[in-house]
Order: sequence, then C-alpha cells, then structure tokens
Amino acid sequence: MKNKLIVVTGGAGFIGSHIAEELSEKNEVIVIDNLYTGNLENVPPNVKFIQADVRDYESIADLISQADYVFHEAALVSVVESVEKPLLAEEINVLGTLNILRALIEGHGKMIFASSAAVYGDNQNLPLKESEKPNPLSPYGVSKVSAEYYLKVFHELYGIPTVSLRYFNVFGPRQGYNQYAGVISIFINRALRNEPLVIYGDGKQTRDFIYIKDVVSANILAAESSRADGRVFNVARGEQTTILELALKIIDATNSKSSILFDKPRPGDIRHSLADVSEIRELGFEPKYSLEEGLLRTVEWYKKG
Ligand SMILES: NC(=O)c1ccc[n+]([C@@H]2O[C@H](COP(=O)([O-])OP(=O)(O)OC[C@H]3O[C@@H](n4cnc5c(N)ncnc54)[C@H](O)[C@@H]3O)[C@@H](O)[C@H]2O)c1
Repeated sequence: MKNKLIVVTGGAGFIGSHIAEELSEKNEVIVIDNLYTGNLENVPPNVKFIQADVRDYESIADLISQADYVFHEAALVSVVESVEKPLLAEEINVLGTLNILRALIEGHGKMIFASSAAVYGDNQNLPLKESEKPNPLSPYGVSKVSAEYYLKVFHELYGIPTVSLRYFNVFGPRQGYNQYAGVISIFINRALRNEPLVIYGDGKQTRDFIYIKDVVSANILAAESSRADGRVFNVARGEQTTILELALKIIDATNSKSSILFDKPRPGDIRHSLADVSEIRELGFEPKYSLEEGLLRTVEWYKKG
C-alpha cells in the first residue's frame, strides 16, 4: 500500500498506533483519537494527529469521506467498564462505528474494523469458526456484534467495502498494563519487578495469543484484498497456550525471581479460547512471530520504558 490517504481511529492507542506507524512510511496517515485511553506519545512522529471523538459526526465526517482506507480501532475497550457503563459502550462502539460508515457513503474509502473474539462469548466448540453464532456475554461484546452487522449492512446497501477482524488476544509494545489490560502486559511488568504473577483459577485455562506486528499485517492484507469485502475474519495464531505456561515463559524471558500465585477464578472469565484461522489464511495470512519471539520483543520494550 502506498500513496494513499489513511485514517486510523484510535491511533493513539496500542493497536492503532502500530497500524499508523507501519503505514506512515509510504502513505499519508492521519490519526483520530480523543485520548480516552490513548496517549499522544504513541502517535508516530510522521503522522498527523486530530483530537476528535468518533461520536461526533461533524468533527470526523469530512476527513473520513476523503480517506482511501479507514482502520477503525477507536473503542471503549474494557469489558468491565462496558458492564458498568453500557450506554457509553454503545455510544462509542456502535454510534461511533455508524458515524464512520455514514461518512463513507459520501466518500470512496474502505473500512477495516477492529472487532473481537468477545463476540463468541463462552462458545467451547473449538476452534471457533467465523460461522459460529455470536453469543456475547457483555455490553462490549454486544457492541462489537452490532457494529459488525452495521458494516455488513452498509456493504450490502451502499457497496462500501468493509471488513471486520475479530482479534483474539493481542500483545506487544505499547499495550497498557492497568488491571483491565492484557494478561501479557500485566505479567511482564510484574515479572520485571520480581512481583508474584497472580493466576485466577488453576492456570489451565487457555488463550490464543497473537503478536501486534502480525495483527498489523492482517489489517493490511484485509485492506488490500477485495475478496475480503463484506466479510468477517478471525485474527489469531490458531494456537492454544495455558495461562500457567504463559507465566512460566514470561518468568523465563525476563529472568525473573517472581513466584506464581493462584487466586479464585474470576466470574465471567471463559475457560478456553482458540480461533480457526483457515479463512484469513486463505487470504494469504501467515503469522510471522511465535509467542516466544513476540514475548522477547515485548519484554525488551518494557525494559527500555
Ligand atoms: N488488545 C486486544 O487484545 C484487543 C482484542 C480484541 C479487540 N480489540 C479491539 O482493538 C481496538 C484497539 O484496542 P487497543 O487494545 O489498541 O486499545 P487502546 O485503548 O490502546 O486503544 C483504543 C483507542 O481508542 C481511543 N478512543 C476511545 N474512545 C474514543 C472516541 N470516542 N473517539 C476517538 N477515539 C477514542 C482511545 O483513546 C485509544 O487511543 C479496539 O476496538 C478494541 O476493542 C483489542
């Protein structure tokens, strides 16, 4: 992809900033973010930053209608916060998405949407195929399903090229590490301080982790492939790792003296998660980073910070 006008919403956040960084070498990239959870320091230097809210149609519509590609990463991202504030989750994640689609009716661009494995809920028919019936367990999950359907409907009604990418557990540099963040960023930061790693439950629960750079590649592939239009894809490695294995790998990668503590399982946590990645592989996706390689790179980054 080169010489395109690209808008990345949520580009001051973890995933959006990596997409912006990768594409900014050969394209004009503009980030839209209201800095709700994002940070200006994440925005790459050669990228233009506009502080705006995706809920406010007037402030984003002109720019969106000029874009060749819109990578829509802006969202209320915390499942817990969505339970506390379902209306806010709806406004940011559904109305915000709808605003971008409305603006694209006036424009010509393609939209690549950050959906989530949360749409599946606790479906244990693993590995999860995109054709499984959505069964979200939180307002966050409901908002992502709803946004996906809006993309599909706007594709069918107006011919807007749209793709929804259901990210599984993404990790890498710049991921936040508050209590609601990804388990990898929390474990790495505790391991670097030799603090105990706390596992909720027996540690045999599994997740399908994917390194940020592979998620960026999946986004670019989905953007460039017209065969992806109107469709939904899982974005994962298609490999299961137990949380206990993960904790041990992180202790190893950080050379840490951390112990591992087991606490009560958290209500609402799903037991196993694993994606079927055959659909996106068929588009040509091949993850390049093993869990170990991704962990080493992430550890190096947190050490520097
Ligand atoms: N990190 C993961 O493992 C994961 C998994 C599944 C899906 N996702 C999805 O990927 C996307 C990016 O997540 P992330 O992990 O980078 O989170 P993040 O919090 O780092 O990034 C989200 C960004 O959106 C911005 N934002 C929030 N509300 C906004 C609004 N109203 N207007 C404009 N900007 C707004 C925030 O300031 C932040 O910069 C989200 O849509 C999230 O739901 C992430």
